[in-house]
Amino acid sequence: MTLEDAQERSLIAAAFAAAEHAYAPYSDYPVGAALLFEDGAVITGCNVENASYGLALCAETVAVAKAFEAGRRGGLVAVAVVGLKADREPITPCGRCRQVLNEVAALGATDPMVLCVSKDDVRRITLSALLPHAFGPSHLG
Ligand code: THU
Repeated sequence: MTLEDAQERSLIAAAFAAAEHAYAPYSDYPVGAALLFEDGAVITGCNVENASYGLALCAETVAVAKAFEAGRRGGLVAVAVVGLKADREPITPCGRCRQVLNEVAALGATDPMVLCVSKDDVRRITLSALLPHAFGPSHLG
């Protein structure tokens, strides 16, 4: 599925809006993520840090957890990720988030387009390019 411009813009806007709710007092690096599903539903997340620094939850992971809680088991077609320090180069999902995103993608056999967003730039990279040879549910049974 190719994303239309309008869909892409609204997904990115949803990720920016989510980043406004980030709790990132330690890194001062607010992140927002937005997941787009086949039926048009969008589920967002923001990063949630902790006084015990290593316990920080990334925005993508929060969004995926919300998606599972909402009953989603696949159908992931696109993801937008934004860092509010958007003057830097576009954020790309961390390694753990690539794996977490892969779980929902694998369940529906989709290869979502990941929109990596900075102030003036959108990099479009498929999840399979970000995480080649991924370990997934099929390896377990
Ligand atoms: N972060 C995300 O939310 N997603 C990523 O893919 C990379 C990093 C967050 C974690 C932490 O709260 C802050 O960015 C700085 O690492």
